[in-house]
Amino acid sequence: MANSNTAKDKVLEWVFKHLDFVFSILRIIKPNVVFKGNAIITRYEDVTEVLERDWVFQVPYAEKMEKVTNGSNFFLGMQDTEQYTRDVSNMRLTARRDDINNIIIPFVEKTCTEIIAASNGKMDVVQELTRVVPTRLIGEYFGTPGWNETEFTDAATNMFQYLFYPDDPEVEKKALDAAEKTRNYLDQAITERKAKRASRDDVLERCLKLQDAGMPGMTDIDIRNNFIGLIIGAIPTTSKCAAITLNHLFNNPELLVLAQQAARVDDDQKMIQFVQESLRLNAFAAGIKRVCAEDYVVAKGTLRSTKIPKGTIVLAATQSAMMDWRKITKPKEFRLDRPAYSYMHFGYGLHTCFGQYINLSQIPAIIKAVLKQNVLQRVSEMKVVEPFPVSLEIEFKK
Ligand code: HEM
Repeated sequence: MANSNTAKDKVLEWVFKHLDFVFSILRIIKPNVVFKGNAIITRYEDVTEVLERDWVFQVPYAEKMEKVTNGSNFFLGMQDTEQYTRDVSNMRLTARRDDINNIIIPFVEKTCTEIIAASNGKMDVVQELTRVVPTRLIGEYFGTPGWNETEFTDAATNMFQYLFYPDDPEVEKKALDAAEKTRNYLDQAITERKAKRASRDDVLERCLKLQDAGMPGMTDIDIRNNFIGLIIGAIPTTSKCAAITLNHLFNNPELLVLAQQAARVDDDQKMIQFVQESLRLNAFAAGIKRVCAEDYVVAKGTLRSTKIPKGTIVLAATQSAMMDWRKITKPKEFRLDRPAYSYMHFGYGLHTCFGQYINLSQIPAIIKAVLKQNVLQRVSEMKVVEPFPVSLEIEFKK
């Protein structure tokens, strides 16, 4: 038994190490695999079909969300219900698109500049920059800096791993402890703000204004739930994407030179494309999980048509879709002129990332600040403790 387990573990380890290769084979020989209650969807067209049919392929996060929020849900864990629309709409009123230019970009640029200026030309970008900046943005923009910056970042990271990665009792324990701490902190932050209103214009203040106006879905607990979900979604993800992008550029010195040239002339559009393309070739995650709510045939009427039985856990492999030559021209090439539909880092369909426009500003701004430095080099390989990068040491001349 022990031997067969070791052999299985070894096979799985190999598969995870060579996912791009495995997906490329599947896309040809068996694009939609159904196996022991699980399914993997690998072609672009089929991945979008799954993610578009949100009433068939439903989000599976509610149970864990309820544990994290202590009995409620958060809109990523909801199907397309009245409550989903209400909560997303409320938060869109408080976290507005024009905040990106007015608040977010200036704050991220200033914070990066200060952190880099305070360094001595040597830094661990993950620990000192990519984890710190999104946490400080949550502090400034949402109005909730956390009880302690590092612990708040770790809490968001632990809860993210619990919600979106396979079950693990150790991860669960850490995440639920973190959730309790985060809930207590947010309760206190909301109470304190209510005692001292209008001192700032941030997402928390705007939520309380909606509460004053009697807007449904804006009780203290509702605000807390929304904040928990947004904090979890915002911090570890941004850090990972920024670290992956920088690491890809360090792995490809000719791209690093081009990216540095673009950074120095503030070519922000090009910075976005560097981020998008680096992430396409080094995916944030293999895909997006769904549970199939009714028997359904994917790619109906084609040779690869596949029945997905009700109850199947489905991985819509966005990593694979973004490498599918049927939609993405020469997918292995790094290109800066690909159309936006080439990218699915931030999901697709109903639950597309709430922060997608923030991401395409914050991540490029973080990497731009690093790329502007002279004689920039990586000191050691990026270290990852799955699923997050934990260290990427660099050196530069100030
Ligand atoms: C920076 C990197 C980020 C990545 C790679 C990322 C990725 C994703 C993905 C793949 C989804 C879809 C999940 C699904 O369909 O099951 C998603 C949803 C979501 N993300 Fe992000 N995210 C990022 C940043 C952020 C930020 C900065 C925020 C908050 C400001 C955020 C908040 C959310 C929320 C609330 C949802 C759920 C949306 C809904 O249910 O309608 N994310 N994200």
